[in-house]
Amino acid sequence: MQKGNLKEILEKKLNKKEKAVFIKSFDSLGNLAVIEVPEELEKKEKLIGETIIKLNKNIKTVCKISGPHKGKYRLQPLKIIAGEKNFTAEYKESGCRFIFDVRKVFFSPRLSNERIRISKLIKKGETVGCFFAGAGPFPIVFSKNTEIKKAFAVELNPQAVKYLKKNIEANKCGNKVEVFRADVNKIAGTKLKNSCDRIVMPMPHGGETFLHVTLKALKKGGVIHFYQVLEKETAFETAIKRAEKECEKQKRKFTLLEKRKVRPFSAAKIQVVIDFRAD
Ligand SMILES: C[S@@+](CC[C@H](N)C(=O)[O-])C[C@H]1O[C@@H](n2cnc3c(N)ncnc32)[C@H](O)[C@@H]1O
Repeated sequence: MQKGNLKEILEKKLNKKEKAVFIKSFDSLGNLAVIEVPEELEKKEKLIGETIIKLNKNIKTVCKISGPHKGKYRLQPLKIIAGEKNFTAEYKESGCRFIFDVRKVFFSPRLSNERIRISKLIKKGETVGCFFAGAGPFPIVFSKNTEIKKAFAVELNPQAVKYLKKNIEANKCGNKVEVFRADVNKIAGTKLKNSCDRIVMPMPHGGETFLHVTLKALKKGGVIHFYQVLEKETAFETAIKRAEKECEKQKRKFTLLEKRKVRPFSAAKIQVVIDFRAD
């Protein structure tokens, strides 16, 4: 990402107001870049998009975010502002390849460090529940970078499941990743009951409502990685309280193993993760 250069290169073409709100970062998804364009910069968006393409040889298309993530599949409205008319991303991370339509599937490259962090915690022979799996970044990175026995990838969005299956095939990890096109609420306490040594819950908005069923899929002594977007000041306190309360209800002993800031979310909110064991 060469955003420093981007501002410098466009310096002469921006007025004072535009410079003040200039884009702070963008997500690079291989051949596609996704950027947030402040209202004040809309007249220059095509120029910004074309300059990003000029500066980054892999990027062929620049999309702007035209609304917040919506609905149960957490999809984001996007509009192409420069380059090829294509919404299919081909993205590489930690030795794995992913393909997905950015309009039809939620995919966050910003959790790549988390996938590596958790990979280092996974022990040989573990069964790992990858709930809210999307197009598969968690289960596929785990299957390639750890000695798991199995990853259970649970996802509701049929389009995401279509790409999840393609990505499993492309990364040749079908023997390690089992796909469930299902609602976590319906499957965690039934088919997957007491089956996982570890469960990842990358559902930062509303994930707390799934804690009770997720605990049912977790073996005694298993670990949960619980993501939340919360008010900055009280983020850890709230996340810990929510997890502790669910453990208490199910008469399981809660032990906090780790708490980490994942990324800033807005002026008032932050994304955090807590790792906890439930005995
Ligand atoms: C925030 S996204 C995370 C996607 C992916 N793990 C990633 O990090 O890029 C949450 C995902 O959960 C899926 N989802 C929402 N409700 C679900 C449910 N009840 N059961 C299973 N998956 C669900 C959505 O379709 C979406 O793909």
